[in-house]
Amino acid sequence: MLFICILNSEIRILTSEIQHLSTFSPMKPLSNRTEHFTESVIRHMTRVANACGAINLSQGFPDFDPPKALQDRLAEVAHTGPHQYALTIGAQNFREALSKKQEHFSGLRYDPQTEMVITCGSTEAMMITMMSVCNPGDKVVIFSPFYENYTADTILSGATPIYVPLDPHDFTFDANVLEDAMKQPGVKALVLCNPSNPSGKVFTREELQIIADLAIKYDLYVITDEVYEHIVFAPHHHTYIATLPGMRERTIECSSLSKSYSITGWRLGYVLAAEPIMNCIKKIHDFTVVGAASPLQETALTALNFGDDYYQELQAHYTHMKEIFTGGLRNLGFKFTEPQGTYFVMMDISEFGYKSDDQFCIDLAQKVGVAAVPGSSFFREPVNHLIRFHFAKKDETLIEALNRLESLRQKMK
Ligand SMILES: Cc1ncc(COP(=O)(O)O)c(C=O)c1O
Repeated sequence: MLFICILNSEIRILTSEIQHLSTFSPMKPLSNRTEHFTESVIRHMTRVANACGAINLSQGFPDFDPPKALQDRLAEVAHTGPHQYALTIGAQNFREALSKKQEHFSGLRYDPQTEMVITCGSTEAMMITMMSVCNPGDKVVIFSPFYENYTADTILSGATPIYVPLDPHDFTFDANVLEDAMKQPGVKALVLCNPSNPSGKVFTREELQIIADLAIKYDLYVITDEVYEHIVFAPHHHTYIATLPGMRERTIECSSLSKSYSITGWRLGYVLAAEPIMNCIKKIHDFTVVGAASPLQETALTALNFGDDYYQELQAHYTHMKEIFTGGLRNLGFKFTEPQGTYFVMMDISEFGYKSDDQFCIDLAQKVGVAAVPGSSFFREPVNHLIRFHFAKKDETLIEALNRLESLRQKMK
């Protein structure tokens, strides 16, 4: 009852805002750029969770602290600075440390002066990359299900997305269908999210080789989103597609510190690419954001210099959270896809007989007190039997969420 009241009051506020806006006299129409995509469903579900007091397993961010070394360093940097603009492409020491870290994990060296730019998260990295690669009328191949930003990134850069379905059971792709999409006239690039949100899929080397062969055959760029590069569960293993023969020069890698160091609010990400591509990306970055926060770059240097033990502990921690959450779902008798990487689980809600997964997620938040994301927001195809949970949460949060989910069948069937 309380949940419904709070949600209703949120809706009332929104309605009064709309009424207020409608009192303005008509003006020239605004840009039509935003007409072809909706507001983020993921971020909307966070607002629903907050309005209902639900446990937020929708938008993926941890409810635990970043490493203590980072918190301590942040306090020091408050006094020592820097507090003014860093170089627009990123602070020199940060880029040098990133170059070393990247070489350590992928074996590829990116020149800190000419082949990287530090961005406001991978979100900016993807957007400025897409704007640098695409002209109006170009096409971009995207696997479906996909992280919802890619549609907006593509459309805002004037291009049109072409979706290639992944099998919703095991998230594999059909190489012939992929080739049919990649060879269409006007296709400029393919977006590869690996490890993949929302499916939790980690592409195998063999799958990446198929993608790489086609990208070379049809002369396409591969724009990667590798923000979950360090959250992969054994025996799966992350392969950077840029390391495959012929791919270094056509891969534009976007990634971030958000997930690897539990600092989603610091907004630190980066793009790695060959110099001619980077020259375009740098210009758009400069004129959109100038640069990423300089005190946070100085602080996050500490993270880039962490040893292998940090990443082993991170994997162990995420494996532990995955076991609590997926073990709990299994005990409750729910069907879900076992993630190979990332911190997402897609749960099958067919047994509840809902026609709309959006409605299911609203009811789940209101009646059960757990927020998830409707799966349809990730799929181009009409898939509405899946919802996405994330498990980057403290043990007690996950256990409480599972306790609440125990009443799901009783409250929603
Ligand atoms: C696949 C993917 N890419 C990018 C982002 C956003 O990353 P950042 O915080 O670096 O902007 C997210 C966040 O959930 C994500 O899941």
